[in-house]
Amino acid sequence: MTFEELKAKDSITVVALESSCDETACAVLRDGRVLSSVISSQIAIHKEYGGVVPEIASRNHVLNVEPVVKEALDKAGITAADADCFAVTYGAGLLGALLVGVSYMKGLSFALDKPLIKVNHIRGHVAANYLADPDLKPPYIGLIVSGGHTAVVRVDEYTSFTYLGGTMDDAVGEAFDKVARVLSLPYPGGPEIERAAKGGARTVYIPVPKTENPYDFSFSGIKTSVINYVHTAEQRGEDINKADVAFSFQSAVAEMLVKAAVRAAKEYDLKDVALAGGVGANGEIRKTLTEACEKRVLRAHFPTKETCTDNAAMIAMEAYLQIRYGDGSALAEDTLDAKASLSFGTH
Ligand code: KG4
Ligand code: ZN
Repeated sequence: MTFEELKAKDSITVVALESSCDETACAVLRDGRVLSSVISSQIAIHKEYGGVVPEIASRNHVLNVEPVVKEALDKAGITAADADCFAVTYGAGLLGALLVGVSYMKGLSFALDKPLIKVNHIRGHVAANYLADPDLKPPYIGLIVSGGHTAVVRVDEYTSFTYLGGTMDDAVGEAFDKVARVLSLPYPGGPEIERAAKGGARTVYIPVPKTENPYDFSFSGIKTSVINYVHTAEQRGEDINKADVAFSFQSAVAEMLVKAAVRAAKEYDLKDVALAGGVGANGEIRKTLTEACEKRVLRAHFPTKETCTDNAAMIAMEAYLQIRYGDGSALAEDTLDAKASLSFGTH
């Protein structure tokens, strides 16, 4: 089937696979509606090591991929032969982990002679917004906050983004994970910081660096200031108030991210701001964005907390948008390979 034939179909059922990090996930989407979404998380396995071990992640994807796909198909009440096309995350992420998904879906697409759509993971995160809010329409500002990426983008069309700025060092999720480690909290640090921050107050000074481009961020200084604060207290034999440290860090980060996104909406005269990525599950960031948007008569959009973190429903949605609105460049070539890094502009 050619891309044009696929695009011309009245109804499109996509079976998508995600395996870029420590979640093996499969989802079935029909015309933008989720029929099933299954996520097998390896968090419990990697927790023991304080972070994701790439080799272990790949091995577990190999073990999980078949049962996860089967469960998603069963839950949707279809077989793989009923799919109009397949979709797979081919980057960015851990190379070995991505290769498991790419190889599996290439095999399925070849065996059943159906098109395979290649999906950029980061664009998938943005597409999670359409699952929660089918009425969201470009253009709008996307604030991407994940474990590997942090960026402000202008979503010009369903399939085209303009990069406005992003992190110059660590991704925001990495900063959450590293600060959590300093506070002796387990992996993944984001939800642990959020839990620890409950009841905390903003008593710890967190210096927020100024960047030349207002849409750029730097998290390494923020992380270092928390580390220094904790170590100084330890040397003095003083107890730290974990809730205050976690809350101060979380609110400084939330303020910095939201300020940039809202500024971009103003500069480009756009009324909608959509959050995307795992860190977008954070209640403080969601609240800060909601309040900032209300103040400036903007609309804030969020994926559900479940579809902020890695899942395959967002990958299926991005593939569906590529079919409906794209030019065919998302169609996977026979030589499709996994890519550890991918720019935001790539399909
Ligand atoms: O988007 P994601 O699931 O994977 C990547 O594509 O990177 O993001 C994972 C990141 C981790 O750093 C994790 O600590 C963070 O998202 N995260 C959170 C929360 N839930 C997950 N960070 C802050 N607050 C949360 N509630
Ligand atoms: Zn992700």
